[in-house]
Amino acid sequence: MHFLLLAGFFGFSMAMPFDQAEIRTRDRSKYSDDFARNTFFPLAMGAYESDPQACVTSGIQGKVKRLINVQCDVDKKDTCAGFTASSDSLKAIVLAFRGTSRDSQLVIEILDAIKEMTPFGGGGVAYYFYKGFMSVWNGGLKDDFLTLRQQYPDYEIWVTGHSLGASMAAIAADYLAINYKPDMTKFKLMTFGEPRTGNASYATAHDARLPFSFRVVHNHDIVPQLPFQWMGYHHHSVEVWYPNKMAVGQPFKICAQQEDQSCQDGQLDVWIPDHDDYFDIADDWVGKGCPRK
Ligand SMILES: *[C@@H]1O[C@H](CO)[C@@H](O)[C@H](O)[C@H]1NC(C)=O
Repeated sequence: MHFLLLAGFFGFSMAMPFDQAEIRTRDRSKYSDDFARNTFFPLAMGAYESDPQACVTSGIQGKVKRLINVQCDVDKKDTCAGFTASSDSLKAIVLAFRGTSRDSQLVIEILDAIKEMTPFGGGGVAYYFYKGFMSVWNGGLKDDFLTLRQQYPDYEIWVTGHSLGASMAAIAADYLAINYKPDMTKFKLMTFGEPRTGNASYATAHDARLPFSFRVVHNHDIVPQLPFQWMGYHHHSVEVWYPNKMAVGQPFKICAQQEDQSCQDGQLDVWIPDHDDYFDIADDWVGKGCPRK
């Protein structure tokens, strides 16, 4: 495993000119630290709870519809989860995901399982994440989403997740965009510590499809460097990289390219604990109901 990690970091870092024109025209000014920290992040963290309500109250003063917790189709030992919620004050319907647990070690351990891709969304995505999303979707999330959609047809749709849940969220966002044709000006994806979800064709199709898609990366978090580029994987935009501990007021960089050497890709070292510590939260922050900072 260690050899594999090193080969990934030092072996192959070719710059690839994918659709840079589209990426340049994307409106990066739509990212707000406050919105990510205090609204989306509590939702992503809520997906790790058996009852996400406290985090949903903190993030959007909203109401959980239902948490779906099912066996992931690919690996029957694991459960995958996602919940829906809505907020009348922010006029939003939320879908938030988690895969396995919050433990970054697990992400590294499943590297072998996420090698395999399946055609999806204009390219290929990791079969593991795709099946994870589909098991939650068919396990009840679809019914709850459609009910909320009917109830609140003019609300925005917000999708989020952390770690494996971040890749499930990205796939969910593409799936909704493709199959339900929502108003994309009212559609937001924001993820935290997202692994590479699919290949370059997928990434470019994703970027063309989603005008609001931000991928928050904490300093040396190892997970966004997995699976490796030499395995055919490629990040979608827009990376927002925090080269610090993400305390309130610390600077971040809104990156210009899908794989950007001036952001996390330019780093030669990775640090596993950075994956479990976004926005400088304490260990018990989620258990306390995701209080605002
Ligand atoms: C991405 O995956 C899809 C489906 O497997 C494949 O058709 C496509 O050629 C791949 N694109 C790249 C750039 O590898």
